[in-house]
Amino acid sequence: ATTLGASAAAKGRYFGTAVAAGHLGESAYASTLDTEFNMVTPENEMKWDAVEGTRNSFSFGSADQIVSHAQGKGMRVRGHTLVWHSQLPGWAGGLGADDLRSAMNNHITKVMDHYKGKIYAWDVVNEAYQDGSSGARRSSPFQDKLGSGYIEEAFRTARTADPGAKLCYNDYNTDGQNAKSNAVYAMVKDFKQRGVPIDCVGFQSHFNSNSPVPGDYQANLQRFADLGVDIQITELDIEGSGSAQAASYTKVVNACLAVSRCAGLTVWGVTDTYSWRSSGTPLLFDGDYRKKPAYTAVLAAL
Ligand code: XIL
Repeated sequence: ATTLGASAAAKGRYFGTAVAAGHLGESAYASTLDTEFNMVTPENEMKWDAVEGTRNSFSFGSADQIVSHAQGKGMRVRGHTLVWHSQLPGWAGGLGADDLRSAMNNHITKVMDHYKGKIYAWDVVNEAYQDGSSGARRSSPFQDKLGSGYIEEAFRTARTADPGAKLCYNDYNTDGQNAKSNAVYAMVKDFKQRGVPIDCVGFQSHFNSNSPVPGDYQANLQRFADLGVDIQITELDIEGSGSAQAASYTKVVNACLAVSRCAGLTVWGVTDTYSWRSSGTPLLFDGDYRKKPAYTAVLAAL
């Protein structure tokens, strides 16, 4: 096949990208999106601060724009993200424990209900673990006020809200085997053993020279898959250029294809110009929407 989405589909996978609603009106952006990708993740528009800036008052306008664009083009949507310490409005972070618990469950329920039947998978909880060697939870309003059980509670609430959506835990620096990924692994194993609803683990896969594609990337994905969850590469971008960048992208695609439960890959943006790494060139299309060597390598590997 001649596009990322069609080639991935031929291998039983999807190929997605993060999308910003504000760029959908740009013809080169939209045509690249519509031609190449078959899964979409709103880059910011479904985050807590975007949809519930005021308690229990929801604004879905920008996220709806992305979802209806995707649906019109036959692309699926990943929901990102319900419970995260970042891009969390001040009112939520300032609540006491009982209020925060009900606000969290209300947020999950209302957002998932609005998109019921339209979302392939939700990142229910994002980035709950610390970096480094401790394997500990990250301090956050949820962790600090509700305790470690908040993740389980969020997943149970999410399953009730939309039983048709896959429920993912998503994080970064969990791409290889290390203390952080070991801690996530232990949580997922525990959830599967106790019947806490979880269907997928998202590996953000933001790579650069300090944090290259780990040598044990595929082995790490496989050990999670062996727990009985799907694997999703959720926010892939790789700093660099030329053949070195292309080779790193090839490794990631090959790892996903080698793990039968790896459902698909999402890159974190359509074009280098709009990458969240504004000084870098981590994506598959350059600022003029030309296909980079990394694009060619990904298409060849799929
Ligand atoms: C980033 C967006 O790309 C930026 O536009 C925004 O300013 C900050 O968030 N991990 C995640 C994503 O789960 O939501 C983040 O997205 C990148 C890191």
